[in-house]
Amino acid sequence: ADQPTDLIPGLPAIAYGGDYNPEQWPREVWDEDVALMREAGVNLVSVGIFSWALLEPQPGVFDFSWLDELLDLLHANGIGVALGTPTAAPPAWFWAAHPDARPVTREGLTLGHGSRGLASPSSPAYAEAAAAITTALGERYGRHPAVRLWHVHNEYGVPVGECYSEHSVGAFRAWLEARYGTLESLNEQWGTTFWGQRYGAWHEIDAPRVSASVVNPAQRLDFARFTSDAHLACFVRERDILHRLSPGIPVTTNIMASSRPEIDYWRWAPEMDLIANDHYLTAERHDSHVMLSMDADLTRSLAGGAPWLLIEHSTSAVNWQPRNLAKRPGELARNSLAHLGRGADGIMFFQWRGGRFGAEKFHSSMLTASGTRGRIWREVVELGTLLPALDGVRGTRVSAGTALLWDWESFWAQNLEWRPSVELDARERMEEYYSRFWHAGITVDFAHPEADLSRYDTIVAPALYLMSEAATANLHRWVSAGGRLIVSYFSGIVDPVDRLPAGPMPGALRDVLGLWIDEFLPLREHETVTLSTGQTADGWAEAIVVEGAEVVATYVDGPGAGGPAITRNRLGAGTASYVSTRLRGAELDVVLTSLTGVLFAGDRAVESVTRVGAGGRFGIHLNHGSTTGTVDAGGTDLVTGAPFDGQVPAGGVRVVALD
Ligand code: GAL
Repeated sequence: ADQPTDLIPGLPAIAYGGDYNPEQWPREVWDEDVALMREAGVNLVSVGIFSWALLEPQPGVFDFSWLDELLDLLHANGIGVALGTPTAAPPAWFWAAHPDARPVTREGLTLGHGSRGLASPSSPAYAEAAAAITTALGERYGRHPAVRLWHVHNEYGVPVGECYSEHSVGAFRAWLEARYGTLESLNEQWGTTFWGQRYGAWHEIDAPRVSASVVNPAQRLDFARFTSDAHLACFVRERDILHRLSPGIPVTTNIMASSRPEIDYWRWAPEMDLIANDHYLTAERHDSHVMLSMDADLTRSLAGGAPWLLIEHSTSAVNWQPRNLAKRPGELARNSLAHLGRGADGIMFFQWRGGRFGAEKFHSSMLTASGTRGRIWREVVELGTLLPALDGVRGTRVSAGTALLWDWESFWAQNLEWRPSVELDARERMEEYYSRFWHAGITVDFAHPEADLSRYDTIVAPALYLMSEAATANLHRWVSAGGRLIVSYFSGIVDPVDRLPAGPMPGALRDVLGLWIDEFLPLREHETVTLSTGQTADGWAEAIVVEGAEVVATYVDGPGAGGPAITRNRLGAGTASYVSTRLRGAELDVVLTSLTGVLFAGDRAVESVTRVGAGGRFGIHLNHGSTTGTVDAGGTDLVTGAPFDGQVPAGGVRVVALD
């Protein structure tokens, strides 16, 4: 009765596996691979992601012999396939025939081939060639029994996000015409009376390439929107072909939830059959496990709370960071199960067998050069052996009462030039607020500011510089109905074309917050200010005039001395608080405790998340510290079957069916 819904139809288990690139190995290695996959409990591998040149050695001439053999071999061994469309790596013949499909950077550099990444997303020749190889794959393998999932392309927007080629400029103009209808409207929205930028014909409009000084911010913002849409059109084109040729098989692409700033995944998510995420630790950060959770929570939010697939992470070091730290023993499982705790129903790695040549030969893998003698292999097998015991968790959901507002459009806008201070960093605020909730043991979702927020009691806007009228109305309604809103500085400042609304700032949030800002008071580098409640802040201050809001703390010193620093406004049945300066760690904890009534009490090592569903309630407890941790939860340890004693050993994980 309590059968979970399978994330991937036909794969009734937690997915486990990785990218598999057997074309880089002699045929006899494949048999060993498959035998070892079985030993490790692998049930899904991503295949063919970069195989275009092998599959279509000449334009329109296909060679599927090796892939036929491979899929049959995998199928015979009970291993499912996430079949790639190889469109992130067009063959050399394509580039020779279509040099105009090469992407051009903002600085005007035309990129050569020899690596990977996208052609100009707006190139007609690329569109045609990508559709042709996708159609050929769909026709041949659309109903192959090994194929469980389609893995379209690879990480759209990486490494080429914006493209400034002639094809892109043409497509941008068409996109603008569709958005604005008339040139009058575009001129008005873009504020082209500034610096004499008025346009008299569509063909006069260029992509916002590097210019002598700062380029029109509305133009840049629209180009960012266009870029995300242009890549999305590439995905949709392939998805539609595969839906037609491979009915019933879900189509996805590997996104990079919190680390791909050029793509607006809120717009992408509804187009994907399931959400599949790539995540790599920033190895040197001491809080990389907290950032992992942030990425996983964002991924789950993109999936609308439904289970999702961790389609890539690493068993140990990557090869592309400045210092590629190896994971410590146990970290592979801890990272994997942290994703599982936050909603992943599948755990996959880049990649199965480490390569001997090419740019990624120093990247870790499931089967490294040490083969089955190495530590990583032991941990890969251990995890693969463990996962079936956790099967009951599949299909369950994480629920959160708090959401952080996350809006790529706002980040794009805020990150443009000539802002009041270089200290204004949307990502920094997002990470800081997220971290405080993480350490307080409060699981959060992320939400778009225009989304239905009714299931949340607390909403935080750590950085919401840009707000639409719909977002303002949404927050107003939600607070009035009883919500608790906490807003950090430099939010509600501009509209969707980076214009200041009429009257004092923050135009979009004046009524909600019950205040206005007379002046921004950015601080000097290293300058600190003290609040009347005792905290020390830096970076930013403001001269605030309250208009209904109650003052929670004032500035004791600095340019804003005597004025409000933190305020709280009653609006209908709810409250909206404002934090006008940069607080961190324990100092932010004090403020959040007072604004929420919930205890934020410093850093913790043990992370606990709960997944709930028809199959039961499950606690996932991870100890990131170096001493045994205790959690207050009773139940049955899913791995040992024994009663859970509340102890989580240093570095360990306990998955518990809760009483
Ligand atoms: C990912 C990419 C993979 C591989 C991996 C290495 O971003 O999708 O193909 O390059 O990085 O960490």
